[in-house]
Amino acid sequence: MTVKFTIRPEQACDYEVIYDITKRAFAPMPYAGGNEQDLINLLRNNDALEISLVAQIGSDIVGHIAFSKAFPENESANVNGGYYALGPIAVDPELQRSGIGSALIYEGIDILRQREAAGCILVGNIDYYQRFGFKTAPHLCPKSEPKDHYMILPLAVKNIDTIIGFHPLFHS
Ligand SMILES: CC(C)(COP(=O)(O)OP(=O)(O)OC[C@H]1O[C@@H](n2cnc3c(N)ncnc32)[C@H](O)[C@@H]1OP(=O)(O)O)[C@@H](O)C(=O)NCCC(=O)NCCS
Repeated sequence: MTVKFTIRPEQACDYEVIYDITKRAFAPMPYAGGNEQDLINLLRNNDALEISLVAQIGSDIVGHIAFSKAFPENESANVNGGYYALGPIAVDPELQRSGIGSALIYEGIDILRQREAAGCILVGNIDYYQRFGFKTAPHLCPKSEPKDHYMILPLAVKNIDTIIGFHPLFHS
């Protein structure tokens, strides 16, 4: 399916629909924690939602991606623009598999490059995220995360050699 959409930073008027899309997109997923939509609000309310983009068709919001700061165990590794974590990301279930998720990810990575980010981590489906350059990195995975689904995208720093964890709000 080909659909025409645009991507832009979130505005306050988008908060409710971001919550709704995230809840509906994750609901059928066996790996969903059930609190993905609340995590976005938690990050935003604690000034930890660093990048928040929406995809829009006409006046309808159809997708969303969040990035927050990530934290190297060895703080001296926090060079350049620092590390980021991707997620949650969600696309309206009726419009999935039409390129919206990919476009949100590419746009987010472009912004990370502009910020000279050192790298970006995520926990997700390996088959999906490797197309964007993310690689599995079990040796850099914090104890709290699933090793098999932990991935990293090196950006300004090519050889990342420290464990990098998510914002503490991910586990609150
Ligand atoms: C994951 C998600 C954001 C992808 O968005 P999307 O707009 O459907 O993705 P795109 O159209 O850009 O990409 C579609 C491609 O990704 C693949 N894909 C989509 N979701 C996938 C998943 N969960 N696992 C594996 N592959 C997936 C499709 O098979 C398709 O592959 P193809 O291009 O080879 O046909 C969307 O499916 C979604 O909201 N899922 C529910 C919430 C979720 O699981 N979020 C991510 C948690 S890690």
